[in-house]
Formats: sequence, structure tokens, C-alpha cells
Amino acid sequence: MADAEGLKDADNYGINIPVSKQSYYLKGLEHADWGIKDRMSRIFNKKSGKTVMLAFDHGYIMGPTSGLERIDLSIVPLLEHADSIMCSRGILRSCIPPTFNKPISLRFSAGTTILNELNDECIIDVDEAIRLNASCMAIMVSIGGKYEAKTIRNLVHTADMGNKYGIPTLGVTAVGTELVRDARYLSLATRVCAENGATFVKTYYCEEGFEKVVAACPVPIVIAGGKKLPENEALEVAYKAISDGASGVDMGRNVFQAENPIAMIKAVKAVVHDGLTSIQAFELYNDLK
Ligand code: R5P
Repeated sequence: MADAEGLKDADNYGINIPVSKQSYYLKGLEHADWGIKDRMSRIFNKKSGKTVMLAFDHGYIMGPTSGLERIDLSIVPLLEHADSIMCSRGILRSCIPPTFNKPISLRFSAGTTILNELNDECIIDVDEAIRLNASCMAIMVSIGGKYEAKTIRNLVHTADMGNKYGIPTLGVTAVGTELVRDARYLSLATRVCAENGATFVKTYYCEEGFEKVVAACPVPIVIAGGKKLPENEALEVAYKAISDGASGVDMGRNVFQAENPIAMIKAVKAVVHDGLTSIQAFELYNDLK
């Protein structure tokens, strides 16, 4: 029986002390549900408001690409330096220690390899995302491609399930060979993702007008690194994207294919979280290397 008598009287009501106003630190997510905010705040550093996600989901479309032949040897040593990781469920289960305890961006769509043009993508089951304790579900969206409607439908369906269970949706803009990665196209692609329910969006950096791409997207944008560049150039892309308002990077090949991947991810983090210029970060990379 619960005690009903002899209880200490409640008398600490803070009368005349205003209730503190809280506001969420990530763009466009003030009105998101608690679970979405909780998971997003695991991905995005609360001090800098940014993230360094390590992407190594390439095998789901490319097979054992350079740097990902042995995830246990190349990626596991990098895990402690990433704010979040992005990978497929197969690699997560087979290679990533469950004691890792950092936020997982789960590759949530599949259906095509590099041997084919992008085609009929499917999505996996939300039960898997819950079972794997995913912090977000990453959906590929092909704006302007042949399967545009199908991939937008996948995004909409994922956002519906994500809202039901409090799991963010990451819209990943795929750019086919026939489309130009300029600000006009990237603004359209990222905005369409946000309008259809993406909690945040991953896209590519473009030299001209990227600040407009970021401004017109009502939720945070992170950039993919793309094909391997010399380390100083990859750091410059990261620096320019952050200067133009990106909320972080979701970088793969430019980290795990770098001459020294640990030094590279530390240099990228210094750009994203500590405000180093690309020149300073490249010096840091060389020192660490
Ligand atoms: C893209 O769809 C892949 O899923 C990668 O996650 C993404 O491209 C980021 O990797 P990278 O920096 O190598 O382009």
C-alpha cells in the first residue's frame, strides 16, 4: 500500500519564477516530437550544432569498394572519431560492435547496384530500424530521375513511419549522370525532400550558390564528400560548405580512402566543430599524419 499519511508537504512551487523557455537548437525542428529531437541531438553536437557522420554504406551499391574491403580493419578504428555512422543493416550486424553506442544512420532504401541505372528502389521495415536502435533512416531520393515518384513515395512512407515512432528521416539526394549538380538543381532536390517530411537532408556541395541551397531548405543540410579528392581539396569542400551554412558532413571516401584516415577525420572534425579553415585543417592533418 502506498503511504497516504505522514508525507512531507510539497512546498517548492517556484511561485513568481517564470518557467524557463526552451528552444531546440536545430533549424526547422522546433515543432518536431520529443523522440525525433532526442535522436537528432545524438547525431548533432549540441555545442556546435553540427555533425561529422562517417558514411560507409557504399557496399550496398558498389560492393567491396576501395577502403571498405575489410570494415573491421579500415572502419572500426575510425568509429570512435565519428559523431555518427551511416551504414547498411548487413554491415552493422556483421562488423560493428554493438558496444559502439553512437547514433546510427541506417541505410533504409535499396534496389540498384552500379551495374544498372537507378531503378525500382524499396525500403526496409521500420521494425528493423527500431530493433537496431537507429537514430535515423536514410532514404535515397532521385529527383528528376526515371523513378522519381517511387523514391519520393519511399521518403513519404519513411517519414510517416518515422513520425509514428519518433525516428528522424534523412533524405539523401541522388544525382544521376544526366543531371547537373548546380544550385538550381540542388535547391529543388533538397527542398522537395524537406517538403515531403525529411527531418534533415544530405546533398552535394556546389561551388556557386550553395548558400542559397542551404537558405531555401527549412531543415539542416549535411554534405556528402563524393569521389576521393586530394586531402587539402576535400577539407576545402568541407570548409566552404560549413561557411555557406551546412550543418555538417556525411563523408565517406574522402575519409576512408585518405592516406591517413584517422588524421583526416580529425581534420574534418576540426573544420566542422572548431571553425578551422581548410588551410589550418590541412596543417593539422599533416601534423597528425
Ligand atoms: C551515397 O548515396 C552513399 O550512400 C554515401 O553515403 C554518400 O555518397 C557519402 O559518401 P561519400 O562521401 O563517399 O560520397
